[in-house]
Amino acid sequence: MKVLVIGGGGREHAIIWALCRSARVTEVACAPGNAGIAQARVQGSGLQVRCLPVDVGDLAAILRIAQAERPDLTVVGPELPLALGLVDKLMHLKFRVFGPKQAAARLETSKSFAKEFMQRHRIPTAAHAICTSLGEVRQELPRFAVPIVVKADGLAAGKGVVICQTPLQAEQTAAQMFSGALLGVAETYVVLEEFLDGEEVSFFALCDGKHAVALAAAQDHKRVGEGDTGPNTGGMGAYTGDGLLSPPMEKWLLKNVAQRVVDEMALEGAPFHGILFCGMMMVPQRNGTTLPMVLEFNTRFGDPETQAILLRLETDIVDLFDAAIDGTAHKLAIKMKPGASACVIAASGGYPGKYTVGLPIAGLDSVHDPDTVVFHSGTAAKDGAIVTAGGRVLGITAVSGPVAAAAGSTNTPLPSPLQAALDKAYGALDGIAFDGMQFRRDIGWRALRDGL
Ligand code: AMP
Ligand code: GLY
Repeated sequence: MKVLVIGGGGREHAIIWALCRSARVTEVACAPGNAGIAQARVQGSGLQVRCLPVDVGDLAAILRIAQAERPDLTVVGPELPLALGLVDKLMHLKFRVFGPKQAAARLETSKSFAKEFMQRHRIPTAAHAICTSLGEVRQELPRFAVPIVVKADGLAAGKGVVICQTPLQAEQTAAQMFSGALLGVAETYVVLEEFLDGEEVSFFALCDGKHAVALAAAQDHKRVGEGDTGPNTGGMGAYTGDGLLSPPMEKWLLKNVAQRVVDEMALEGAPFHGILFCGMMMVPQRNGTTLPMVLEFNTRFGDPETQAILLRLETDIVDLFDAAIDGTAHKLAIKMKPGASACVIAASGGYPGKYTVGLPIAGLDSVHDPDTVVFHSGTAAKDGAIVTAGGRVLGITAVSGPVAAAAGSTNTPLPSPLQAALDKAYGALDGIAFDGMQFRRDIGWRALRDGL
C-alpha cells in the first residue's frame, strides 16, 4: 500500500521510520518532509520516500497533493491541519485518513472547549474560569490563589500558558492575550486556572471512535535548560519506560480519562478517531495517594514523545492506523519492546529564541548502533550536504531492553534500561555537531532518580 504522511518534523520522521518497516507498506510520500525523511527507504520495496514541498497550513495544496498521489492511507501529524479540518476534507473526497475530524480536534484546539467538556463529564482537571474580557478576568481573579495559570484558548505552539506569581501579572498577561500582543493573534477566550503541583506524565491512547486502548506513557522535557529551568520549548527530550505508570494507574487513566473522552465525544456527535494525548499532572495527596488531573489534551502524536515511543513499537504501525479508522482498536494487541527508550533533542543555539539556520551538520553517518536512530526535526539538504533548518534540529533516539549481566561479570550494578538507552543516545550525540548545537544532558533525570 501507499501511504502519505503530512508534516515534516521529528514526529513525522519517526512515523515514517515505522511505516518503512511495515510488511504492508510499499510506497511512502511525505508533505513536506525534511532532509532525513528524504533519505528513508521502504524496506519491503526498496523505494525511497518522496518529499513533496507544501505548507502544512495550506489545505488546498495538500488536497491537490492527495489527489495527484492517490494514497491508500493518509496520516496527519501536526495539529495545524487537524485544526483547519484537513481530515474532514480528505474524508469528503473518500480518502482513508488517520486523525480526528475538526470537531473532535477541538479537545486540543480550544482550551475552553476542553475545560467545559471535562467539567461536564467529571474528568479530573484544575479549577478554572473562562473569561471573555479583562473585566471578567478582574472579577474572577480573587477566586484563585497564586501562582495563577493563564492560558490562551487557541493553538499557541507551547507559548500559550503563563504561570503568574501575582494577580497583577495574571491580569497583564490576560490583557496581552486579548490584545494579541503576546501571541500575535487576539484571543476571544482566556482561561484562568488553579496551579497544580506534581509530576507530569503524557498518556497516549489509540482511539477508534468507540474504544480507547493504551499505547504508551512518556515524559517530555519542555524547558530549555537542565533541571527544567528556562523558557518553554517544543520539547528538548522525552523518554518512555516500563514502570513509568503502574498497571493500576494506567488502567485508571484509560477508564476515567481516555475511554470517558471517547464515550462522551461520541455522544456529543464528534467521535474521536486518532491518538488522544492526555497531558496529566500527578498531584500528590495528603493521604499519600496520587490524584491524576488533566492539564491538556492533544489530539495527535507528541513531538518528541513519538520518537521514543515508536522505537519500542513491535506491532505493525499500519495495524494501529487501520484499527483507529475501522473501529477495531479493542481487538488490537499492541506490543511494545520491554525496557525503555529515550530521545535527546539537538537544538540550534539560541532556541527557543532567535537562531541561525543553514549550518552544516557533521557526523550524521557516524551512528551504526541498530538500537539508535537519528530522527531529523528541522533539517534541509543544501548543495549535497545536510544543514540545520529549524529550532529543534535532530532527535537522537535509542532503545534498550532489560540489561543482562555479561558472562563472568562481577557484581557491579547493572544500568537500568533507561540509563542504557540514554547512554546510547548521548554516545551517538558525541559524534554529531553543528555550530551552536545545544542539548540537555539530563533527559530522564526524574525517572533515574526514582529508579526506573
Ligand atoms: P498545556 O499546554 O496546558 O499542557 O500547558 C503547558 C505546560 O504548562 C504544562 O506542560 C505544564 O507544565 C504547565 N501547566 C499547564 N497548566 C498547569 C496547571 N494548571 N498547573 C501547573 N502547571 C500547568
Ligand atoms: N511534546 C509536546 C507536544 O507534542 O505537544
